[in-house]
Amino acid sequence: MGRPSNADPSPKDVPRERCVTGIEGLDHILGGGIPKGNMVLLAGPVGTGKTTLSLEFLVHGAERGESSLFLSVTEASNKLIENLSSFDFFRKDLIKSNKLVFVDLPIMYERLGLDHEELTVEDIELLTRSVLDLVESVGADRVVLDSLTSLGYRIRRDERIRDFMLTLGQGLSRLGTTTLLVSEVAPMEGRYSSHGVEEAVVDGIILLGNASRQGDILRVLQVVKMRGTAHSRSQYVMELTPLGLLMAPHLKGNRAQGG
Ligand SMILES: Nc1ncnc2c1ncn2[C@@H]1O[C@H](COP(=O)(O)OP(=O)(O)O)[C@@H](O)[C@H]1O
Ligand SMILES: [Mg+2]
Repeated sequence: MGRPSNADPSPKDVPRERCVTGIEGLDHILGGGIPKGNMVLLAGPVGTGKTTLSLEFLVHGAERGESSLFLSVTEASNKLIENLSSFDFFRKDLIKSNKLVFVDLPIMYERLGLDHEELTVEDIELLTRSVLDLVESVGADRVVLDSLTSLGYRIRRDERIRDFMLTLGQGLSRLGTTTLLVSEVAPMEGRYSSHGVEEAVVDGIILLGNASRQGDILRVLQVVKMRGTAHSRSQYVMELTPLGLLMAPHLKGNRAQGG
């Protein structure tokens, strides 16, 4: 089920090169970053910080001179950029220099003639090829798809979603791209994706959720799985600050609330 480069995730493997997320707490949990070339599911209920984490991941990449590509399905890029501007870590020149590139997938659908409701097998092949061509032409080291769930609504069938992800994953891995696929899940559902096939195909799962503490709802983060590295599976409290995401170990005794 895994991709060829990750066929043997033995811990004795030669250490993998890392994609440093630049989110300090997350890099710490992962022992230096996401193993380069991994395709990672970033799952969680609405409002848990998936889009914010994804954007911060890309901005830090662009700052390091890596090309970063945000594929937006649900939100218009200009709104995302506007919101991003309120964070201290954002620099507009990264967009001007094309280190940080935003593409609205609905515009791509339209250009490819894929603006009908349910995508056929041929449509999905065309879309996959176009996305991989785009990633290659941008020379993207980091890609975010926000969200896989929204795209999945149009692919619909489990086996087609699995095939789409396998082909996409193989292409991205060949290009050496590290990818976050955003997955919207309902709170309390105890799953990582809407179809249940997505988690089997990916190299890693980062789960965001909510936890209650004395009448407050905290945001929490947990690395559930990550091929190519040892990592903590503990829950961390994640705070959204103007400086970006901050993480601290979650004190025992607080109850997690789904996600
Ligand atoms: N620029 C910002 N400054 C402060 N908080 C923000 C900012 N942007 C988003 N947030 C907080 O993060 C929440 C949602 O984050 P978001 O990353 O969009 O979550 P998700 O993608 O998981 O739905 C918002 O409801 C808000 O509380
Ligand atoms: Mg979002």
